[in-house]
Amino acid sequence: MASQLRVYVPEHPLIKHWLGVARDENTPPVLFKTAMAELGRWLTYEAGRYWLPTVDTEVTTPLAIAKASLIDPQIPFVIVPILRAGLGLLEGAQGLLPLAKIYHLGLVRNETTLEPSLYLNKLPEQFAPGTHLLLLDPMLATGNTIMAALDLLMARGIDANLIRLVSVVAAPSALQKLSNAHPHLTIYTAMIDEQLNDRGYIVPGLGDAGDRCFGT
Ligand code: URA
Repeated sequence: MASQLRVYVPEHPLIKHWLGVARDENTPPVLFKTAMAELGRWLTYEAGRYWLPTVDTEVTTPLAIAKASLIDPQIPFVIVPILRAGLGLLEGAQGLLPLAKIYHLGLVRNETTLEPSLYLNKLPEQFAPGTHLLLLDPMLATGNTIMAALDLLMARGIDANLIRLVSVVAAPSALQKLSNAHPHLTIYTAMIDEQLNDRGYIVPGLGDAGDRCFGT
């Protein structure tokens, strides 16, 4: 059966609020970092709804036995933040998945060619079958960086069906590439903006997410 890229833009007042704060050019770096952490938290919360596997069990309360549904301890969970800007989302995401292993991936965009180059790869050689992976990249602009990251993950045995990609702003150019190359992927984003400028920045976007997170 043919599959289609799934892109969710959750309608949540907290997501809208923190996106507005992040977009505002007058927001100072410390508040921008808070906004990214909150967006990481609420978008991960939404992404987990149909993705986190649970097991039905029983627990003994102080009064009686109760049915319980717990996160399956047998399932490996990992978070992959794409540096630098993915680090902004990590704080909130990690708060919800404290037992997940975190593998950092550093990809920097050449501002002339807009092509990414890899400068840090902490991925394991192979992921265990069934690994559930949360991929963090706030700005899906040209799509070149996220495509490079997905190539690295697929080569290490990750099943695209088990990935949840959390972004803050996505552009149609990136979504089109992802739809063609990774139709089994699921994305949670705070907003889809309409276009890129001639330097590959999302408009209206929020500027350079890495620079704004780290005050550079
Ligand atoms: N990376 C960013 O940080 N912002 C954009 O608008 C595009 C890529």
